[in-house]
Amino acid sequence: MADDTPKRVRTRHFARAKQSGIKITGLTSYDQLTASIFDGAGIDFLLVGDSAGNTVFGYDTTLPVTVDHLIPLTRAVAGAVKRALVVADMPFGSYEIGPDDALRTAFRFMKEAGAHAVKLEGGVRSAPQIERIVSAGIPVMGHIGFTPQSEHGLGGHIIQGRGEGAQALVDDALAVQQAGAFAVVLEMVPSAIAERVTAALDIPTIGIGAGPHVDGQILVWTDWAGLTTGRIPKFVKKYADLHSTLTSAATEYIADIGSGSYPAPEHEYGD
Ligand code: KIV
Repeated sequence: MADDTPKRVRTRHFARAKQSGIKITGLTSYDQLTASIFDGAGIDFLLVGDSAGNTVFGYDTTLPVTVDHLIPLTRAVAGAVKRALVVADMPFGSYEIGPDDALRTAFRFMKEAGAHAVKLEGGVRSAPQIERIVSAGIPVMGHIGFTPQSEHGLGGHIIQGRGEGAQALVDDALAVQQAGAFAVVLEMVPSAIAERVTAALDIPTIGIGAGPHVDGQILVWTDWAGLTTGRIPKFVKKYADLHSTLTSAATEYIADIGSGSYPAPEHEYGD
């Protein structure tokens, strides 16, 4: 929304951005320092993703993440931003049992963490949950395509929406919209299918591995900044190389302490 800068981003600005063809920008964040940096740079929304399971807590998947893990992270992010919309991710097991269960979780993120919206995974299957949360006045971002919380059910990190899956993806997107979501994440979907979904919807689509023909983009900040090591998805563009920067800094620090060149006189207190 670079050309249309509201004081505080609200869900209506997402709708306006889609209507006027202005791209929506998002990153994940899990702490107040990055939240404040990204917010100051003009990011439109920050997602306190359950990807914190991998990036913060060191799990192999997002499945072990709980609401109690994400509440303090969301509070830190929401407390740091002045402009960006803060979306809290509803973790696996916190909404699937039914709409009441989902609403209870959403209440926690709004009351205890100061989130501005929540996100949950699933299209047709999660529509009743989305509807219930929205009816309580809480904005919901949907998430379809590859949904990491279902990675075992989906058989791994597999691109979604190919072949006959394309119509199911459109049906999921329409169900999320019909249930009242203000936007929907499309993860790991062929570009042509993402374009089709985007054209079929009035609400904006936010892509992650969904190509350019969507209404906005999000990336996991540690991938985007080159901090993550190991397998990085093909769709990630690294905008920095923080892993090398921090490794060099730590190596130099260790050497300086060993050689006695740190602390130097300018780092000492006098009498
Ligand atoms: O948890 C997360 O970071 C996400 C993004 C991949 C969209 O859900």
